[in-house]
Amino acid sequence: MRHLLGMGDLDADELVEVLDVADAFVEVGQRANPKVPALRGRTVATVFFESSTRTRVSFETAAKRLSADVLSFSAGTSSLNKGESLRDTIETIESMGIDALVIRHAAAGVPVQVARWLSSTCVVNAGDGAHEHPTQALIDLLTIRQVRDPGGKGVGCFAGLAVTIVGDIRHSRVARSQVCGLARLGARVTLVAPATLLPPSLEGWPVEAIGHDLDAVLPTTDVVSLLRVQEERGSGTYVPSLREYAHGYGLTAARAALLPPDAVVLHPGPVIRGVEVAPEVLDLPAVLVRRQVSNGVAVRMAVLFLLLGSGDRPSSGSRGAGGDGASAGGLGPGPGEAARTVEVSAVDDA
Ligand code: NCD
Repeated sequence: MRHLLGMGDLDADELVEVLDVADAFVEVGQRANPKVPALRGRTVATVFFESSTRTRVSFETAAKRLSADVLSFSAGTSSLNKGESLRDTIETIESMGIDALVIRHAAAGVPVQVARWLSSTCVVNAGDGAHEHPTQALIDLLTIRQVRDPGGKGVGCFAGLAVTIVGDIRHSRVARSQVCGLARLGARVTLVAPATLLPPSLEGWPVEAIGHDLDAVLPTTDVVSLLRVQEERGSGTYVPSLREYAHGYGLTAARAALLPPDAVVLHPGPVIRGVEVAPEVLDLPAVLVRRQVSNGVAVRMAVLFLLLGSGDRPSSGSRGAGGDGASAGGLGPGPGEAARTVEVSAVDDA
């Protein structure tokens, strides 16, 4: 496998492998020197055509902690403003000699198209329109596994897990990727949203239930995943007002009290305080937003490592990561195997 374009690219074994390698990188992140030499000599380009705080910084931090060089492209100040096409822009960046291109775009399908244009570069989808955001879903899976099965390997903790995804599902790439990953691992997913913020068709979505009454599902929910109302995709016109949305679907303190004691709350960020979640709820120990962000670096390290860490990619023969202890073979090896090879020593020049 050369690219990560959507959660459908990963079967259950590969999901486990990414989570296990990410767990190893969580441990690396806790060291005094959180840097490893695994991708020394490789270059990762972050190419974002849409706003981002955590995803871009997270990918760049991940690449740097793997000792890769980072090339950071900003659409707003690029030659796109002079009329250059997307394809020419992308091919220009590839000509600089990059190994991976991490792309975010407001249009669904752009990462898939870009992957077709590029001959030897790995493409990672960092969010395309309302389509997919696979690394965010991987973060959420890792975060859930850490709390439901501390120190555990495998994905048994997902079997029968009741996950409720609340909010702007219609416009959410996070929801699409989450549903795909959670269902593959055996979780029971319920979608809760106003009718206008559900997709026009849910045919083929592997969800157990769809509802509009958040209070009714919270007492039997293990994991709540809150979504922002995506106003930049026009959501504002799908709800009478954000105040009304908050009244029906915001996680207030009273609603949080309906959850079972061991339930947890996720949110991919950015959080709009007072809309999808009350400010005081954000301080509850069950709310894992900060942990999701720190897991983000480890998950993206795992994805970049598994895509680029192999010496057998045609383009990487002369620039491989060999000789420094990192040797995972793409997303190929069985669960746990790559996690063992990721036990690389810290670099001394960090
Ligand atoms: C999400 C995104 O951009 O899709 N955020 C993220 O990547 N952490 C969700 C959002 O913008 O609401």
